[in-house]
Amino acid sequence: MTAFEIFDRLEQTAIGEAIRNSSWLFPVVEALHLVGLALLGGAVLLVDLRLLGFGLTTRSPAYLVGQARPWLWSALALMFATGIPLFLSEALKCYGSPPFALKMGALALALVYTFGVRNRLVGRLSPAAHWRARALGGISLLLWFTVAASGRWVGFY
Ligand code: HEM
Repeated sequence: MTAFEIFDRLEQTAIGEAIRNSSWLFPVVEALHLVGLALLGGAVLLVDLRLLGFGLTTRSPAYLVGQARPWLWSALALMFATGIPLFLSEALKCYGSPPFALKMGALALALVYTFGVRNRLVGRLSPAAHWRARALGGISLLLWFTVAASGRWVGFY
């Protein structure tokens, strides 16, 4: 089966059809996707701004990673629970969409970086290593910004 045929099948699923045939389901699910984006932005910014030297500077970055963890997981759960139905409703549009491919690639990188690199190294930062902290936060911001910006770009492509 070719990739095109897989995307075609995905678009024919009951969830995809229900959203496509409704005048209100897509905007409602997309609005919930944006609620998830707001939660995700908060959870990411809290830590990344601290790493860049702004915001809650009286707390350690490692402490903030712990505080933000449940919000980050909840936000990701909501993004996936709403993003997948949106995708099913327009899988063929996404198939030929460079912004969608960019978004999925950046999302994979952002997840690996956040949980595999940033959250692990944040506890090992020495207080003097400002540039390392800035790089750790800056890369995270860049990756999550790319996911969000390419997500918005899909609608214009
Ligand atoms: C977890 C990180 C994610 C972020 C930051 C994100 C961000 C966004 C943004 C900013 C939009 C544009 C909303 C608008 O136009 O008002 C969007 C739309 C969308 N997202 Fe996501 N998203 C994420 C995850 C996902 C996932 C996992 C999927 C599916 C596999 C997905 C599928 C979609 C689809 C299909 C749209 C509609 C595109 C269109 O306008 O036609 N998203 N997303």
